[in-house]
Amino acid sequence: MGRFRWFVLGSAASVAAYWLVRYLRPEHSPLVLKQAVVIITGASAGIGRAYALAFARRGARVVLAARRADLLEAVRAEIATYAADVLCVPTDVNDDAQLERLVRTTLERYGRIDILINNAGVVMQGMLHNHDPQRVRAMVNTNLAAAINLTRLCLPSMLAQRSGTILNISSVGGAVPNATTPAYTATKAGLNAFSSALRRQLEGTGVRVVTVLPAYTDTDMLSPVIQDYVRNLGFTVDTPYYVAEHTIDALLKGEQEIWFGGFTTRAVAWLERHVPFLSTLLQRWLITPEVIAMMEEPLVAQKADPQGAQQ
Ligand SMILES: NC(=O)c1ccc[n+]([C@@H]2O[C@H](COP(=O)([O-])OP(=O)(O)OC[C@H]3O[C@@H](n4cnc5c(N)ncnc54)[C@H](OP(=O)(O)O)[C@@H]3O)[C@@H](O)[C@H]2O)c1
Repeated sequence: MGRFRWFVLGSAASVAAYWLVRYLRPEHSPLVLKQAVVIITGASAGIGRAYALAFARRGARVVLAARRADLLEAVRAEIATYAADVLCVPTDVNDDAQLERLVRTTLERYGRIDILINNAGVVMQGMLHNHDPQRVRAMVNTNLAAAINLTRLCLPSMLAQRSGTILNISSVGGAVPNATTPAYTATKAGLNAFSSALRRQLEGTGVRVVTVLPAYTDTDMLSPVIQDYVRNLGFTVDTPYYVAEHTIDALLKGEQEIWFGGFTTRAVAWLERHVPFLSTLLQRWLITPEVIAMMEEPLVAQKADPQGAQQ
Protein backbone atom coordinates (compact mmCIF):
# COMPACT_ATOMS: atom_id res chain seq x y z
CA MET A 1 0.00 0.00 0.00
CA GLY A 2 1.31 3.44 -0.92
CA ARG A 3 2.36 5.94 1.70
CA PHE A 4 -0.60 8.16 0.91
CA ARG A 5 -3.08 5.39 1.73
CA TRP A 6 -1.32 4.72 5.05
CA PHE A 7 -1.52 8.42 5.77
CA VAL A 8 -5.27 8.57 5.02
CA LEU A 9 -5.98 5.36 6.99
CA GLY A 10 -3.87 6.57 9.91
CA SER A 11 -5.64 9.94 9.98
CA ALA A 12 -9.08 8.30 9.84
CA ALA A 13 -8.13 5.92 12.66
CA SER A 14 -6.84 8.82 14.80
CA VAL A 15 -10.03 10.81 14.31
CA ALA A 16 -12.16 7.74 15.14
CA ALA A 17 -10.07 7.03 18.26
CA TYR A 18 -10.35 10.67 19.34
CA TRP A 19 -14.15 10.67 19.07
CA LEU A 20 -14.40 7.29 20.79
CA VAL A 21 -12.32 8.51 23.74
CA ARG A 22 -14.39 11.70 23.93
CA TYR A 23 -17.59 9.68 23.82
CA LEU A 24 -16.50 7.11 26.40
CA ARG A 25 -14.61 9.39 28.78
CA PRO A 26 -15.98 9.32 32.32
CA GLU A 27 -18.25 12.21 33.25
CA HIS A 28 -16.57 14.83 35.43
CA SER A 29 -17.77 14.85 39.02
CA PRO A 30 -21.12 16.64 39.15
CA LEU A 31 -21.05 20.27 40.17
CA VAL A 32 -22.94 20.88 43.40
CA LEU A 33 -24.11 24.48 43.72
CA LYS A 34 -25.80 24.23 47.11
CA GLN A 35 -23.42 25.73 49.69
CA ALA A 36 -20.75 26.25 46.99
CA VAL A 37 -18.58 29.30 47.67
CA VAL A 38 -18.64 31.51 44.56
CA ILE A 39 -16.49 34.63 44.13
CA ILE A 40 -17.90 36.98 41.48
CA THR A 41 -15.96 40.03 40.32
CA GLY A 42 -17.94 42.86 38.76
CA ALA A 43 -20.95 41.78 40.84
CA SER A 44 -22.29 45.31 41.28
CA ALA A 45 -24.03 45.48 37.88
CA GLY A 46 -24.94 43.77 34.62
CA ILE A 47 -23.95 40.16 34.06
CA GLY A 48 -22.07 39.89 37.38
CA ARG A 49 -25.15 40.96 39.33
CA ALA A 50 -27.23 38.42 37.38
CA TYR A 51 -24.70 35.68 38.24
CA ALA A 52 -24.92 36.65 41.92
CA LEU A 53 -28.71 36.30 41.90
CA ALA A 54 -28.69 33.06 39.87
CA PHE A 55 -26.05 31.27 41.99
CA ALA A 56 -27.56 32.48 45.29
CA ARG A 57 -31.00 31.27 44.17
CA ARG A 58 -29.47 27.78 43.88
CA GLY A 59 -28.19 27.90 47.43
CA ALA A 60 -24.61 29.02 46.75
CA ARG A 61 -22.74 31.29 49.17
CA VAL A 62 -21.78 34.24 47.00
CA VAL A 63 -18.90 36.64 47.54
CA LEU A 64 -19.57 39.92 45.74
CA ALA A 65 -16.61 42.02 44.54
CA ALA A 66 -16.55 45.32 42.66
CA ARG A 67 -15.56 48.93 43.37
CA ARG A 68 -19.01 50.43 44.07
CA ALA A 69 -19.73 49.26 47.62
CA ASP A 70 -23.23 50.83 47.66
CA LEU A 71 -24.26 48.76 44.62
CA LEU A 72 -22.83 45.59 46.17
CA GLU A 73 -24.98 46.24 49.25
CA ALA A 74 -28.01 46.72 46.98
CA VAL A 75 -27.34 43.32 45.35
CA ARG A 76 -26.93 41.78 48.82
CA ALA A 77 -30.33 43.23 49.79
CA GLU A 78 -31.94 41.73 46.65
CA ILE A 79 -30.45 38.33 47.45
CA ALA A 80 -31.42 38.50 51.13
CA THR A 81 -35.02 37.55 50.34
CA TYR A 82 -33.94 33.96 49.56
CA ALA A 83 -30.32 33.56 50.73
CA ALA A 84 -28.72 35.01 53.81
CA ASP A 85 -25.10 34.06 53.34
CA VAL A 86 -23.63 36.82 51.19
CA LEU A 87 -20.23 38.43 51.63
CA CYS A 88 -19.51 41.85 50.10
CA VAL A 89 -15.83 42.70 49.62
CA PRO A 90 -15.44 46.06 47.85
CA THR A 91 -12.54 45.44 45.47
CA ASP A 92 -10.75 47.21 42.67
CA VAL A 93 -9.36 44.29 40.66
CA ASN A 94 -6.53 46.52 39.43
CA ASP A 95 -5.07 46.61 42.94
CA ASP A 96 -3.09 43.44 43.82
CA ALA A 97 -3.44 44.04 47.58
CA GLN A 98 -7.24 44.21 47.21
CA LEU A 99 -7.26 40.95 45.23
CA GLU A 100 -5.26 39.29 48.03
CA ARG A 101 -7.68 40.68 50.61
CA LEU A 102 -10.65 39.33 48.61
CA VAL A 103 -9.24 35.78 48.63
CA ARG A 104 -8.06 35.99 52.26
CA THR A 105 -11.45 37.30 53.49
CA THR A 106 -13.29 34.55 51.58
CA LEU A 107 -11.06 31.80 52.98
CA GLU A 108 -11.30 33.19 56.52
CA ARG A 109 -15.10 33.23 56.31
CA TYR A 110 -15.79 29.98 54.41
CA GLY A 111 -12.50 28.02 54.37
CA ARG A 112 -12.82 27.20 50.65
CA ILE A 113 -13.46 28.59 47.17
CA ASP A 114 -15.49 26.42 44.80
CA ILE A 115 -16.11 28.75 41.87
CA LEU A 116 -14.29 31.89 40.75
CA ILE A 117 -16.07 34.05 38.17
CA ASN A 118 -13.66 36.48 36.51
CA ASN A 119 -16.35 38.79 35.18
CA ALA A 120 -15.21 42.39 35.90
CA GLY A 121 -14.63 44.12 32.60
CA VAL A 122 -14.60 47.42 30.76
CA VAL A 123 -14.75 48.25 27.08
CA MET A 124 -13.19 50.87 24.79
CA GLN A 125 -14.75 51.40 21.38
CA GLY A 126 -13.84 53.48 18.35
CA MET A 127 -10.65 54.41 16.55
CA LEU A 128 -7.55 53.16 18.36
CA HIS A 129 -5.66 56.43 17.80
CA ASN A 130 -8.35 58.22 19.85
CA HIS A 131 -7.90 55.94 22.88
CA ASP A 132 -6.40 57.37 26.04
CA PRO A 133 -3.22 55.34 26.80
CA GLN A 134 -3.82 55.17 30.56
CA ARG A 135 -7.31 53.86 30.03
CA VAL A 136 -5.96 51.28 27.59
CA ARG A 137 -3.55 50.01 30.28
CA ALA A 138 -6.35 49.97 32.85
CA MET A 139 -8.59 48.02 30.48
CA VAL A 140 -5.91 45.43 29.67
CA ASN A 141 -5.32 45.01 33.38
CA THR A 142 -9.00 44.78 34.36
CA ASN A 143 -10.00 42.39 31.58
CA LEU A 144 -6.91 40.19 31.48
CA ALA A 145 -4.09 40.62 34.03
CA ALA A 146 -6.44 40.90 37.02
CA ALA A 147 -8.30 37.74 35.96
CA ILE A 148 -4.99 35.87 35.66
CA ASN A 149 -3.76 37.10 39.04
CA LEU A 150 -7.01 36.39 40.87
CA THR A 151 -7.02 32.88 39.39
CA ARG A 152 -3.42 32.47 40.59
CA LEU A 153 -4.49 33.44 44.11
CA CYS A 154 -7.51 31.08 44.19
CA LEU A 155 -5.71 28.06 42.75
CA PRO A 156 -3.80 26.85 45.85
CA SER A 157 -7.02 26.25 47.80
CA MET A 158 -8.77 24.67 44.78
CA LEU A 159 -5.81 22.37 44.12
CA ALA A 160 -5.67 21.39 47.80
CA GLN A 161 -9.36 20.45 47.82
CA ARG A 162 -8.93 18.79 44.36
CA SER A 163 -11.97 20.58 42.99
CA GLY A 164 -12.94 23.98 41.70
CA THR A 165 -14.26 25.83 38.69
CA ILE A 166 -12.80 28.94 37.12
CA LEU A 167 -15.18 30.81 34.85
CA ASN A 168 -13.59 33.40 32.61
CA ILE A 169 -16.13 35.80 31.15
CA SER A 170 -14.74 36.58 27.74
CA SER A 171 -16.77 37.70 24.72
CA VAL A 172 -17.74 36.52 21.24
CA GLY A 173 -15.62 39.56 20.31
CA GLY A 174 -12.55 37.66 21.53
CA ALA A 175 -13.14 35.03 18.84
CA VAL A 176 -14.46 37.33 16.09
CA PRO A 177 -12.17 40.37 15.89
CA ASN A 178 -14.35 43.45 15.58
CA ALA A 179 -13.08 46.58 13.84
CA THR A 180 -14.82 48.81 16.38
CA THR A 181 -12.96 47.41 19.41
CA PRO A 182 -9.39 46.36 18.56
CA ALA A 183 -7.90 46.87 22.04
CA TYR A 184 -10.87 45.28 23.86
CA THR A 185 -10.79 42.38 21.37
CA ALA A 186 -7.13 41.80 22.27
CA THR A 187 -7.96 41.46 25.97
CA LYS A 188 -10.75 38.96 25.32
CA ALA A 189 -8.71 36.93 22.82
CA GLY A 190 -6.01 36.85 25.51
CA LEU A 191 -8.51 35.60 28.07
CA ASN A 192 -9.60 32.84 25.67
CA ALA A 193 -5.99 31.75 25.19
CA PHE A 194 -5.36 31.90 28.95
CA SER A 195 -8.38 29.65 29.59
CA SER A 196 -7.32 27.08 26.99
CA ALA A 197 -3.71 26.91 28.20
CA LEU A 198 -4.67 26.76 31.89
CA ARG A 199 -7.24 24.02 31.15
CA ARG A 200 -4.42 21.91 29.72
CA GLN A 201 -2.14 22.70 32.66
CA LEU A 202 -4.79 21.69 35.21
CA GLU A 203 -5.87 18.43 33.54
CA GLY A 204 -6.32 15.71 36.17
CA THR A 205 -6.28 18.11 39.13
CA GLY A 206 -10.07 18.32 39.55
CA VAL A 207 -10.06 22.03 38.69
CA ARG A 208 -12.12 22.97 35.62
CA VAL A 209 -11.58 26.04 33.47
CA VAL A 210 -14.60 27.30 31.55
CA THR A 211 -14.73 30.11 28.99
CA VAL A 212 -17.97 32.06 28.66
CA LEU A 213 -18.44 34.05 25.46
CA PRO A 214 -21.41 36.42 25.81
CA ALA A 215 -22.63 38.19 22.69
CA TYR A 216 -24.47 41.54 22.77
CA THR A 217 -26.04 41.82 26.23
CA ASP A 218 -28.32 44.49 27.66
CA THR A 219 -26.08 46.07 30.33
CA ASP A 220 -24.48 49.47 30.95
CA MET A 221 -21.61 48.34 28.73
CA LEU A 222 -23.78 48.46 25.62
CA SER A 223 -25.37 51.88 25.07
CA PRO A 224 -29.03 51.97 23.93
CA VAL A 225 -27.92 53.46 20.58
CA ILE A 226 -25.62 50.52 19.90
CA GLN A 227 -28.27 48.06 21.06
CA ASP A 228 -30.73 49.52 18.52
CA TYR A 229 -28.09 49.45 15.82
CA VAL A 230 -27.16 45.79 16.30
CA ARG A 231 -30.81 44.74 16.62
CA ASN A 232 -31.50 46.40 13.26
CA LEU A 233 -28.70 44.33 11.76
CA GLY A 234 -30.45 41.16 12.95
CA PHE A 235 -28.36 40.41 16.04
CA THR A 236 -30.08 39.42 19.26
CA VAL A 237 -29.39 41.31 22.49
CA ASP A 238 -29.50 38.89 25.43
CA THR A 239 -30.59 39.85 28.92
CA PRO A 240 -28.00 39.38 31.69
CA TYR A 241 -30.45 36.99 33.39
CA TYR A 242 -30.48 34.76 30.31
CA VAL A 243 -26.65 34.79 30.24
CA ALA A 244 -26.53 33.76 33.92
CA GLU A 245 -29.18 31.03 33.67
CA HIS A 246 -27.79 29.54 30.46
CA THR A 247 -24.25 29.60 31.90
CA ILE A 248 -25.38 27.55 34.88
CA ASP A 249 -27.27 25.06 32.68
CA ALA A 250 -24.20 24.62 30.47
CA LEU A 251 -21.87 24.36 33.49
CA LEU A 252 -23.99 21.56 34.93
CA LYS A 253 -23.78 19.76 31.56
CA GLY A 254 -19.99 19.96 31.73
CA GLU A 255 -19.43 22.34 28.80
CA GLN A 256 -16.07 24.08 28.73
CA GLU A 257 -16.91 26.82 26.20
CA ILE A 258 -20.27 28.52 26.58
CA TRP A 259 -21.30 30.62 23.57
CA PHE A 260 -24.10 33.17 23.34
CA GLY A 261 -25.85 35.04 20.57
CA GLY A 262 -28.58 34.04 18.16
CA PHE A 263 -28.35 32.75 14.62
CA THR A 264 -26.62 35.85 13.17
CA THR A 265 -23.85 35.80 15.78
CA ARG A 266 -23.26 32.10 15.23
CA ALA A 267 -23.22 32.58 11.45
CA VAL A 268 -20.65 35.38 11.81
CA ALA A 269 -18.50 33.24 14.14
CA TRP A 270 -18.66 30.36 11.65
CA LEU A 271 -17.66 32.68 8.81
CA GLU A 272 -14.75 34.06 10.81
CA ARG A 273 -13.46 30.58 11.49
CA HIS A 274 -13.95 28.98 8.08
CA VAL A 275 -14.03 31.81 5.52
CA PRO A 276 -12.21 34.73 7.18
CA PHE A 277 -11.96 36.85 4.04
CA LEU A 278 -15.78 36.96 3.83
CA SER A 279 -15.86 38.05 7.46
CA THR A 280 -13.47 40.88 6.59
CA LEU A 281 -15.65 41.90 3.64
CA LEU A 282 -18.75 41.85 5.82
CA GLN A 283 -17.16 44.14 8.41
CA ARG A 284 -15.89 46.48 5.66
CA TRP A 285 -19.49 46.78 4.48
CA LEU A 286 -21.15 47.10 7.89
CA ILE A 287 -18.61 49.05 9.94
CA THR A 288 -18.47 52.43 8.26
CA PRO A 289 -16.75 55.55 9.72
CA GLU A 290 -20.22 56.73 10.85
CA VAL A 291 -20.69 53.52 12.83
CA ILE A 292 -17.28 53.90 14.48
CA ALA A 293 -18.11 57.53 15.35
CA MET A 294 -21.36 56.33 16.93
CA MET A 295 -19.40 53.80 19.00
CA GLU A 296 -17.09 56.57 20.24
CA GLU A 297 -19.95 58.71 21.55
CA PRO A 298 -20.14 57.10 25.02
CA LEU A 299 -16.35 57.53 25.31
CA VAL A 300 -16.62 61.22 24.49
CA ALA A 301 -19.37 61.55 27.12
CA GLN A 302 -17.17 59.79 29.69
CA LYS A 303 -14.27 62.13 28.96
CA ALA A 304 -16.54 65.10 29.53
CA ASP A 305 -17.84 63.59 32.78
CA PRO A 306 -15.06 61.46 34.30
CA GLN A 307 -17.12 60.93 37.50
CA GLY A 308 -19.64 59.04 35.42
CA ALA A 309 -17.01 56.92 33.72
CA GLN A 310 -17.29 53.18 34.18
CA GLN A 311 -13.60 52.51 33.74
N1 LIG B 1 -22.58 43.64 27.73
C1 LIG B 1 -22.11 43.03 26.67
O1 LIG B 1 -22.63 43.20 25.54
C2 LIG B 1 -20.97 42.04 26.81
C3 LIG B 1 -20.67 41.24 25.70
C4 LIG B 1 -19.61 40.34 25.79
C5 LIG B 1 -18.89 40.24 26.96
N2 LIG B 1 -19.20 41.03 28.03
C6 LIG B 1 -18.37 40.88 29.23
O2 LIG B 1 -19.18 40.62 30.37
C7 LIG B 1 -18.53 41.10 31.54
C8 LIG B 1 -19.53 41.92 32.38
O3 LIG B 1 -19.87 43.08 31.65
P1 LIG B 1 -21.31 43.77 31.75
O4 LIG B 1 -21.88 43.75 30.39
O5 LIG B 1 -22.08 43.20 32.86
O6 LIG B 1 -20.85 45.27 32.02
P2 LIG B 1 -21.27 46.31 33.20
O7 LIG B 1 -22.72 46.27 33.42
O8 LIG B 1 -20.62 47.58 32.79
O9 LIG B 1 -20.53 45.70 34.48
C9 LIG B 1 -19.14 45.69 34.58
C10 LIG B 1 -18.78 45.25 35.98
O10 LIG B 1 -17.34 45.23 36.08
C11 LIG B 1 -16.98 45.89 37.28
N3 LIG B 1 -15.66 46.49 37.17
C12 LIG B 1 -15.16 47.28 36.21
N4 LIG B 1 -13.92 47.68 36.51
C13 LIG B 1 -13.62 47.09 37.70
C14 LIG B 1 -12.49 47.13 38.56
N5 LIG B 1 -11.38 47.82 38.24
N6 LIG B 1 -12.53 46.44 39.72
C15 LIG B 1 -13.62 45.73 40.06
N7 LIG B 1 -14.73 45.65 39.30
C16 LIG B 1 -14.72 46.34 38.13
C17 LIG B 1 -18.06 46.95 37.48
O11 LIG B 1 -18.18 47.27 38.87
P3 LIG B 1 -17.70 48.64 39.56
O12 LIG B 1 -17.81 49.73 38.54
O13 LIG B 1 -18.63 48.79 40.73
O14 LIG B 1 -16.28 48.37 39.98
C18 LIG B 1 -19.31 46.21 37.04
O15 LIG B 1 -19.85 45.48 38.10
C19 LIG B 1 -17.32 41.91 31.08
O16 LIG B 1 -16.16 41.16 31.23
C20 LIG B 1 -17.62 42.15 29.61
O17 LIG B 1 -16.44 42.33 28.85
C21 LIG B 1 -20.23 41.93 27.99
